[in-house]
Amino acid sequence: MTGVVYRSRLAGGLDGNALGYISSMSDDAEIIEYDILGSKAHVLMLHECGLLADDDVKDILSALNKVRLGSNSEGAAEDIHEFVESEVIRIAGIKSGGRIHTARSRNDQVVLDMRLKIRDDINVLCGGVIDTVKKLLTLAEQHQKSVMPLYTHLQQAQAGTLSHYLLAQVDILLRDVERFGATYGRINKNPLGAGPVGGTSIRIDRRRTSQLLGFDGLVENSIDATSSRDFAAEYVAALAILMTNLSRIAEDLVIWSTSEFAFVEMADEFSSPSSVMPQKKNPDILEITRSKAADVIGSLVTVLSATKGLATGYGRDLQQIKSRVWSSTVATAQAVGVIGSAVDKMTVNVEKMRKAAGEGHLVALDIAEKMVQYGTPFRQAHKIAGLLVQKAIEGGKGIPDLSRSEIKAVTGTSDDVERIYQITKETTISSSLEDRISEGSSGFAEQSRMIQERRRLIDEQKATVQRRRNRIDESLAELGSAVDRLIEGKKTAQPQ
Ligand code: ARG
Repeated sequence: MTGVVYRSRLAGGLDGNALGYISSMSDDAEIIEYDILGSKAHVLMLHECGLLADDDVKDILSALNKVRLGSNSEGAAEDIHEFVESEVIRIAGIKSGGRIHTARSRNDQVVLDMRLKIRDDINVLCGGVIDTVKKLLTLAEQHQKSVMPLYTHLQQAQAGTLSHYLLAQVDILLRDVERFGATYGRINKNPLGAGPVGGTSIRIDRRRTSQLLGFDGLVENSIDATSSRDFAAEYVAALAILMTNLSRIAEDLVIWSTSEFAFVEMADEFSSPSSVMPQKKNPDILEITRSKAADVIGSLVTVLSATKGLATGYGRDLQQIKSRVWSSTVATAQAVGVIGSAVDKMTVNVEKMRKAAGEGHLVALDIAEKMVQYGTPFRQAHKIAGLLVQKAIEGGKGIPDLSRSEIKAVTGTSDDVERIYQITKETTISSSLEDRISEGSSGFAEQSRMIQERRRLIDEQKATVQRRRNRIDESLAELGSAVDRLIEGKKTAQPQ
């Protein structure tokens, strides 16, 4: 028989194909634990409010402890909520089990389950991102003096250091952690008790279930609580942004591991061979990261499109969002871990980077800035430095190799020649990086300062995630012991 507990209004069970079509049972395997947890908090609250007798709550809670996927009614249920309720009724009997769904609806239940799952996923993900950030920071520490070209338009722009590049990625990823933290604040709110859409006439205590489940308050308006999926869109958007950030790192490493660049070599365990070209070593892990980013961006579009045309109130369309949320979490968590390990295990070719930085006249801006320090207007200094580059290219040499007469040909006025000549001789990539003092620049001194500072930020973020985890653990431990006390028949502590 299809349709386990709800179908009295309808003649007979759901058509077999229709059931397969609308069932969310496979997606809901991810939330059964949360559904049971939410159900426990709900009946505990009903009992405390005098809405469930001691025997009934005891029977329901014992039955909830026995509910497992794999029983007979699983194939007949439309979703996990119907399955859990029908199992409770089967195990506890209709007299007690028939009371579990008092003053709630699948519409507030499903949002509850999603919020409970996403808040855990955010904490796990943030832990993963922090681990990867630590690996990048350790590498940055080792490469504070590893000179490399920085690029704009993928053309050599200024001289920099590998640590500076890595620290940029550290900041970007720490911002992802912060973004998840802000999203967490909006997700960790309790929708339970909103009912189908308009609330209930039964005197429940929504604040009590919030407390039992470790929420920071209510999603108060019952229409909002059951209709809205902006929290899911926001979460998947944060995942999509994180994936986009990882995808850009992946693309940098794809370019840097070509034989033309050869700045890095990915470890063998993070590379794939060719079936036919024996010499090949391909960065498939990095490529898959780029395309998984595309999957997650696609999921964000699915979540937004599924909701944009939906009239306010629950619509079954919302069910389809769940699988995209789950799969985006899995893809992102994997990418975070794999990119972290791949970067950790790659070999850096410091010499190649230094050589590349020496070939592109990258000191041109530093030379112009020195002229500015002597009082030349920047536009004029820019022009002279540009002409010096042109002369150097014509002569097939570097700017420091230009002769006095070549410099004179560029400046026109003789009084500047000696000073500019001296500047071209003194200005090397190393001296430029000593001189680069602006906050957050590639300058050598800035590297160690930023590394120290980021170590502190990492510890702060770690502590924040730990606090969120502790708060959940404490609430759920209390909920667990309240459940145990009731099952053992002892009186529970009354809420204050
Ligand atoms: N399986 C549904 C979902 O995932 C649960 C809510 C169903 N509610 C309803 N009124 N049909 O969204």
